[in-house]
Amino acid sequence: MRRVLITGGAGFIGSNFVRLILAEQPDCLLINFDKLTYAGNLENLEGFLNHPNHIFVKGDICDGRTVEDIIDKHKIETIINFAAESHVDRSITGPKVFIETNVIGTLTLLQAACDKKIKKFIQISTDEVYGSLGDTGKFTELMPLSPNSPYSASKASSDHLVAAFGHTFGLNYNITRCSNNYGPYQFPEKMIPLMINNALADKPLPVYGDGLNVRDWIYVEDHCRAIWKVLTEGKTGEVYNIGASSEKTNLEVIKTILKIVGKPESLITFVKDRLGHDKRYAIDSTKTASQLGWQAQIKFEQGIKGTIEWYLKNKKWLTGVTTGSYQQYYQQMYAGR
Ligand code: NAD
Ligand code: DAU
Repeated sequence: MRRVLITGGAGFIGSNFVRLILAEQPDCLLINFDKLTYAGNLENLEGFLNHPNHIFVKGDICDGRTVEDIIDKHKIETIINFAAESHVDRSITGPKVFIETNVIGTLTLLQAACDKKIKKFIQISTDEVYGSLGDTGKFTELMPLSPNSPYSASKASSDHLVAAFGHTFGLNYNITRCSNNYGPYQFPEKMIPLMINNALADKPLPVYGDGLNVRDWIYVEDHCRAIWKVLTEGKTGEVYNIGASSEKTNLEVIKTILKIVGKPESLITFVKDRLGHDKRYAIDSTKTASQLGWQAQIKFEQGIKGTIEWYLKNKKWLTGVTTGSYQQYYQQMYAGR
């Protein structure tokens, strides 16, 4: 049995990872440690909370003592750190919690990992640590880090800490840097679910600036499969870029969503630009493909249709997160634990 501590497993990508692994890897035990911030939602794990290979524990990655107790109690061999404050706009209005969770939290996990002789530590990072691209070129793992937002600066800091713990203390680690994810269970503060939600409710779709910023989109399940590859085959101390070569301007994505849901482009509303808005991201994942034999399987056109269908079928989930009722749900769920 592979015994894995995952942090942030009630969030968007973490919960997709939990569902995928429980469905496909019967020999893996997941201890899911999550603070349940506004972004953490036990409804994302519905149907899996009582799975024999899944144990949910509510807690904060900044609490080293609890992390060490969990490692001892469940004989943890591997840590995958998904937990983070993840929204760029929030980092502009309130950066402090980004430093607390993304930097101090990661440091706390690293110290516990070294003290407890963890066999492998995987840091889930982001392509935003590389900064912003001009009209051409792609991010490779060899590029220097050049983060522009408080969010990406906090993620770059944690990447440096992970590598430093590898160099100084011999921690066996990998860092993954993925591009923009979309798919089921994404909190509707991020662009794609926000636009789907507003379009379904006939509300304006707020486009920052001229809408020509470019993001490189990947379906969340493809990202999760890449993480499993890194866990099982990643070489010590390597960074792996993960992307699906699917660059789109924000306007292209928004017009696609409107077309699929059958709503008019007149809902598009240009609003004040994000401060320090990165112009373009594009990921070169050649190394991950050649070293680990991984490639994204889901094309954007297919993934976005499936994602919209999921939001249409799961209006209860969407209403829960937009009204805040999901927080009562987890309080009730958690009261019994
Ligand atoms: P998310 O905001 O949906 O989820 C974050 C989860 O972490 C939540 O469940 C939250 O409760 C938990 N959390 C926050 N602070 C915590 C703390 N102090 N202790 C324990 N748990 C805590 O984020 P996401 O979009 O699923 O992103 C997951 C990871 O992947 C992040 O590290 C993010 O930087 C990275 N990433 C995200 C994307 C993307 O497009 N969403 C792309 C590349 C990398
Ligand atoms: O690249 C990976 C990163 O992608 C992750 O590390 C982050 O956690 C994740 O949030 C995401 O960051 P972005 O800032 O790229 O994603 P967001 O969904 O916030 O915005 C995508 C693009 O859409 C960006 O150019 C800003 C624009 N946008 C966003 C919102 C929320 C709008 O035009 N209007 C909006 O209302």
